[in-house]
Amino acid sequence: MQQHGGPGISAGDSVDPALVPRRTLSSGATMPAIGLGTFGSDHVSAAEVAEVVKGAAAAGYRHFDCASVYRNEAEIGASIEEILCGGIRREDLWITSKLWNDKHGEDDVIASCRQSLSDLGLNYLDLYLVHWPFPNFHLPGCDVTSRSPDARPYIHANYMKTWRKMEELVDMGLVGHIGTSNMTIPKLKLVLRDARIKPAVNEMELHPHFQQPELFHFALENGIQPVGYCPIGSPGRPERDRTSEDTAPTQDPVIVRIAERHRIQPAVVCIKWAVQRGQTPIPFSAHHYRANLEGVMGDPLTDEEMRSIATIDRNCRLIKGQVFLWKEGQMWEDLWDLNGEITPP
Ligand SMILES: NC(=O)c1ccc[n+]([C@@H]2O[C@H](COP(=O)([O-])OP(=O)(O)OC[C@H]3O[C@@H](n4cnc5c(N)ncnc54)[C@H](OP(=O)(O)O)[C@@H]3O)[C@@H](O)[C@H]2O)c1
Repeated sequence: MQQHGGPGISAGDSVDPALVPRRTLSSGATMPAIGLGTFGSDHVSAAEVAEVVKGAAAAGYRHFDCASVYRNEAEIGASIEEILCGGIRREDLWITSKLWNDKHGEDDVIASCRQSLSDLGLNYLDLYLVHWPFPNFHLPGCDVTSRSPDARPYIHANYMKTWRKMEELVDMGLVGHIGTSNMTIPKLKLVLRDARIKPAVNEMELHPHFQQPELFHFALENGIQPVGYCPIGSPGRPERDRTSEDTAPTQDPVIVRIAERHRIQPAVVCIKWAVQRGQTPIPFSAHHYRANLEGVMGDPLTDEEMRSIATIDRNCRLIKGQVFLWKEGQMWEDLWDLNGEITPP
């Protein structure tokens, strides 16, 4: 389906980055309200993702969501170098990376950030996140039934030791902002209480079938920008991340009807909804990244369409985190503190 252009889409078919909506963080800094995800979901190679990054920059993306665990930061770094050589200024880019779960140790945080900086060819990151609140090594690509013998529950004192190192990265000028990912309200409350530098963002799963209204509003009320991963419902996610209860927001009749009305892809409706709602979606796309960016540039969803999408939340978490379970007999729900308290060890 053809994507309709809106204001800010130039004859060269790229979006003027200056016109892309931005989010103001608690520091006063701003970041583009849409970013490109860079997880190839095990089927898009590092080299392909790196090509997509270049194409996306040419299309007008300036925000890239990276992570050491995606095992493509060196390839993306080569693309960033080309992007900068092509005349885009470093200060016009917003680059995020993330600390992986086996690097929470006090001696590992700074070293791990330096490794990402070196791979990405940068001397600072705009944002560095603690990828998951659980310190845990599990083999890359392992499936949801796999359990790590060294899996540990969330221990707040330990998380804060990691966070102190994250704060040090800001003090050192290696990182502009720090943030959390995959957190819950009770965990965030403790971090907000104890942090010297508060999280600027919380990266979390957000799409029309998983709207997380409580956490979303809690974050906004506390000056934390929600960054939404799997904004399209991650149709290309690995088999190991699928269960029979999962639903697809892009197949929801409400989304499909709105897409037909606007003559856009259902996925683009998800992106428009995300940006209009106030989160920052980071869709990955090898083939549709241009349509996704153009989708935030005009032809907004109506209030009535926004309201109708609010009614289709199915509380359907796709990325359940099963590999983080730390003892026998647990359910993945235990990772998400559903009764409002941190699940005891
Ligand atoms: N913090 C965390 O723990 C965490 C967890 C998961 C993901 N993430 C981040 O979030 C990013 C996005 O998540 P995700 O990649 O799992 O899910 P997603 O962005 O919801 O879905 C990506 C998939 O959607 C397809 N797609 C994108 N735009 C489309 C369009 N307009 N029409 C049709 N299909 C479209 C892509 O296909 P094509 O490639 O064919 O276009 C790709 O298969 C990741 O890349 C990663 O950076 C973070």
